[in-house]
Amino acid sequence: MTQNKPKILIIYKSSTGFTKKYAGLLAEKLDCRAINFKNIRSVSLSSYDMLFFGTRAHAGSIDGLKRFRKILKQTGSRQLFRSLFVTGAVPAAEKDAIQQLWQNNLTESERTYLPHFYLPAGLCYEKMSFTDRIMMKGLFFMMKRKKDKTAKDLELEKQIAHSFDISSEEYLKPVIECVLGLIWPADKKE
Ligand SMILES: Cc1cc2nc3c(=O)[nH]c(=O)nc-3n(C[C@H](O)[C@H](O)[C@H](O)COP(=O)(O)O)c2cc1C
Repeated sequence: MTQNKPKILIIYKSSTGFTKKYAGLLAEKLDCRAINFKNIRSVSLSSYDMLFFGTRAHAGSIDGLKRFRKILKQTGSRQLFRSLFVTGAVPAAEKDAIQQLWQNNLTESERTYLPHFYLPAGLCYEKMSFTDRIMMKGLFFMMKRKKDKTAKDLELEKQIAHSFDISSEEYLKPVIECVLGLIWPADKKE
């Protein structure tokens, strides 16, 4: 690690652009490099001090996390994985759903030691893959046909009917604060 500033690499996996946008903003704030997950094999991960992984929530899973862990293991870079951020369509207020995402996808050790953040983003039907659009439309019609809908069901049905964008730079604030804490831990400050 260089004396003052560690070398950080942000690796993002993005299908419709939300995660890419957040990764770009974060890279700008931290003055570091962001690369697409597709190109991960073209960089030497071990030449970095810290790796951050950004991806999307996808049908209750964290897209690409298992593959990312595998690559870290293969390249002996597991200890460099220092933060995870996940974008999604669920609003920040849906604490239980977000908690469930961590519970179902992170190991106990990751939940304890790996700083992880949920970044509200939205949905973009225009840029979605064919399969994803079919999945979302399937969910929409299932909600539409559902009987005895709760207020939450009605809200979800309304929300997923169209593209929307609830992303905001504000959501990056806790990520940046945490990262700055990792770079300059309180006990190491002058
Ligand atoms: C098929 C499908 C499943 C999704 N599942 C979830 C989900 O479980 N939770 C969530 O919050 N968002 C979910 N989303 C929304 C995406 O996570 C959201 O649009 C994300 O920001 C996309 O990131 P990207 O633009 O970087 O690809 C889903 C989207 C699609 C198309």
